[in-house]
Amino acid sequence: MAIALDTPLTELLGCRYPIIQTAMGWVADPRLVAATGNAGGFGFLAGATIEPQQMEAAILETRRLTAQPFGVNFHLYQANAPQIVELVLKHRVRAVSYSRSPGQQMIARLKDAGVVCMPTVGALKHAQKAVAMGADAVVVQGAEGGGHTGTVPTSQLLHQVLAAVSVPVVAAGGFKDGAGLLAALAQGAAGIAMGTRFLMSADSPVPAATLARYLAVSDPAQIIVSRAVDGLPQRMIRNELLQRLETGGALRRLWLALGSGLAYRRHSGLSLVQLLLTAVNQRRGGGLTLAQSLMAANAPMVIQKAMVEGLPAEGVLPAGQVAASIDSLPGCAELIEQIVQDAQARLEDLCRRLS
Ligand SMILES: Cc1cc2nc3c(=O)[nH]c(=O)nc-3n(C[C@H](O)[C@H](O)[C@H](O)COP(=O)(O)O)c2cc1C
Repeated sequence: MAIALDTPLTELLGCRYPIIQTAMGWVADPRLVAATGNAGGFGFLAGATIEPQQMEAAILETRRLTAQPFGVNFHLYQANAPQIVELVLKHRVRAVSYSRSPGQQMIARLKDAGVVCMPTVGALKHAQKAVAMGADAVVVQGAEGGGHTGTVPTSQLLHQVLAAVSVPVVAAGGFKDGAGLLAALAQGAAGIAMGTRFLMSADSPVPAATLARYLAVSDPAQIIVSRAVDGLPQRMIRNELLQRLETGGALRRLWLALGSGLAYRRHSGLSLVQLLLTAVNQRRGGGLTLAQSLMAANAPMVIQKAMVEGLPAEGVLPAGQVAASIDSLPGCAELIEQIVQDAQARLEDLCRRLS
């Protein structure tokens, strides 16, 4: 008989399998999130890139597409973060994810309403801080993961955090199959979270031209970490835009930042003051140039070129190194079923081999 794979994570989130589809700007839309939920996983909507006036519609659309629970991701520096929290409470969304804790008061409000608070962290000290602030579980993203990322490899970070906190810990960064799920569970994780693998799926909204670029990468060394986009280390596929940013000098970066800043202002409905405030908030991390803090504030627009417009040479291509070993685009149902069956078969095989 197949082993059920119930863990503290499935209990906390109310899903069948300990598999999370993480938030990804422009990618984690209602269709992807609902497809994940319907397949037994748990998906997060990418709140930072859904237009503020569209967020409620996105929550309702997800509800229309699935009866399963799902979550919403947001960034504290977003000008509309408080409104997103209100929507989460109003619509009784099951969970929120964030990378910087939104303050003890806001977390207490969410927790009082029964919303699961599950931040993503890239370092041990951030995990400890997030738990001290009230996190119900933490997702630890190792250096090989896509998008903004840290320096510690997944297996080591998982080991460190498991030894230091008592809430369920979810492993992220580099997962794509049942072997990874089983390894993470064996190490003590309550489940896995995947970004790149879900981006590279038939339920992903990413245009074909951009997906072709992801599929074409076969060398993990081509998926590099750079600070050129927004001053923060971000893992991306090396492409023409990144090349220009890395070699172009401050003036070119400022020019690009201003251009995408104006586009982001139109998209997000932010006033110029709000845009600058967002840049200042981002800059609090320290050490960013004017161009970098502007880019940080409007980085979503640079990603949008590839993820929405289908221009992979002109936009940023955030990706985990695992993209180099993915060569198919299954739907979420097939993907999750395969991962679960593979993990179960491997576990049974392991038990046989060790007994
Ligand atoms: C295209 C892309 C966009 C992302 N956007 C976000 C985001 O908006 N918010 C966030 O918290 N993490 C974001 N991330 C990070 C993912 O949520 C996740 O932690 C990471 O992809 C896990 O590593 P993996 O890609 O190896 O599975 C993004 C990652 C990718 C690949």
